[in-house]
Amino acid sequence: MAESRKLAFAAFTPPSKGVLIVFCEEGLKFGPATRKALAPADDLVQRAAAADKFTGKSGSALDLVAPAGLPVARLVVMGIGKAGKLKTQDLVKLGGAAMGKVPARAEAASIFAEFAGGPLKPDQAAELALGTQLRAYVFDRYKTKRKEGEEAPAKPQITIAVNNAAAANKAWEQSRQPVADGVIMARDLINEPANVLYPEEFAKRATALKKLGVAVEVFDVPAMKKLGMHSLLGVGQGSRKDSRMVIMRWNGGKKSDAPVSFIGKGVCFDTGGISIKPAAGMEDMKGDMAGAACVVGLMHALAARKAKVNAIGAIGLVENMPDGNAQRPGDIVKTMNGQTIEIINTDAEGRLVLADVLHYVNTKHKPKFMIDLATLTGAIIVALGQEYAGMFSNDDRLCDRLTKAGQATMERVWRMPLGPEYDKMIDSKFADMKNTGGRYGGSITAAQLLARFVEKTPWVHLDIAGTALGSPQTDINKSWSSGWGVRLLNQLVEDHYER
Ligand code: BES
Ligand code: MN
Ligand code: ZN
Repeated sequence: MAESRKLAFAAFTPPSKGVLIVFCEEGLKFGPATRKALAPADDLVQRAAAADKFTGKSGSALDLVAPAGLPVARLVVMGIGKAGKLKTQDLVKLGGAAMGKVPARAEAASIFAEFAGGPLKPDQAAELALGTQLRAYVFDRYKTKRKEGEEAPAKPQITIAVNNAAAANKAWEQSRQPVADGVIMARDLINEPANVLYPEEFAKRATALKKLGVAVEVFDVPAMKKLGMHSLLGVGQGSRKDSRMVIMRWNGGKKSDAPVSFIGKGVCFDTGGISIKPAAGMEDMKGDMAGAACVVGLMHALAARKAKVNAIGAIGLVENMPDGNAQRPGDIVKTMNGQTIEIINTDAEGRLVLADVLHYVNTKHKPKFMIDLATLTGAIIVALGQEYAGMFSNDDRLCDRLTKAGQATMERVWRMPLGPEYDKMIDSKFADMKNTGGRYGGSITAAQLLARFVEKTPWVHLDIAGTALGSPQTDINKSWSSGWGVRLLNQLVEDHYER
């Protein structure tokens, strides 16, 4: 199970070794505890700043090795511009940027959580800590060798100096460490190769949430056959690995409250099936379960912080393979709610999985809303790049809330259209609908199909093909997988759905 690195909160005591990181506002302004700690090296800092024209601008830094007057190995002064302008997400980013200044071989690092106006509040220090842990994440469990001269990283002990260490630690443990661990769990699942993480193994890892008090139900192939989930099962029928559906439930709310619900696409590997994908880049399709990984990471976060909400996490786990038993183009499958889908392209498999899981959650659990996450279409990457996820919905209020949560976490969403005009694009000659809509509006026709399985329930579909995989390098992520969505949805729940 994912665990955060070595992290502690302590009082403002100048460290005697390792790296000392302090913050500085425009005009070379330090907070009182920082000024005191730097006093023995005041002249050095002033001269270094002058020599480097460092004034404390946001994004700039002074990096001093073996600073005279201080016992530490390194002093890093990070400019933050004006503290008054910093929002919560800037504190997370700042924590990440600070972590980025710590060399892997450092034995320890101490971050002074103080701006010119004084120490950060406990919850602000916890946001800073979140940034350090997300930045420190590496997925290296399959690296057995180091290059010549490369040292083993020391994985330094990180200390965050604050005014009230106990309060900061409490804020961290109760509200932000659960989120950090959830994001890291999602990243781990996504980075894991498909020979290790196939549906049954994925279900097993989701089952580990039981330790936190999450109720977990695993449906195997016979159980799903009984429910009539032939759309999901059709996708997995060409694989040696059996499909699974996992339903997780966290009961932190009032007994009578309808649950919120999150549904994830869990295609553990997507070859495209008989409509096979080209070879180049196909290895990335081990990440076609990022939606499901996000749901598991989110359920971890909610349970670990004992969120006062009832929540369902539902994931459809399959492997899409070409095989003698694989589904063919032209095949017609019947979904759990009795509709028929003609398969035009076996590579449009995510919607087939989600159709049955959405209907199952909707009818069985009568949720307050459903939000699904899926690496559903390449077209969404063409439309939005990697900065925004595509958002499709039948509910303006839910969209509004998600847009705001996106701005607060920098996991941003951009609303795309849906509408009956698009329906004719998925009309089939032989069945109720077909699984692809042609070249135009590929992300929209995919969402349009999903809409047929949600009825009146408020629903959002997030197409995360661009944001979840091959992530751009940011201050809080250096990994191929971002764990996108865990922080966004945790924020949504925090802001609106806890009693
Ligand atoms: N998993 C892919 C979408 C994808 C592409 C995710 C790139 C992440 C990165 C999905 O199953 C798929 O193959 N979609 C097809 C749909 C088409 C056949 C209608 C696509 O986008 O090309
Ligand atoms: Mn596909
Ligand atoms: Zn796929």
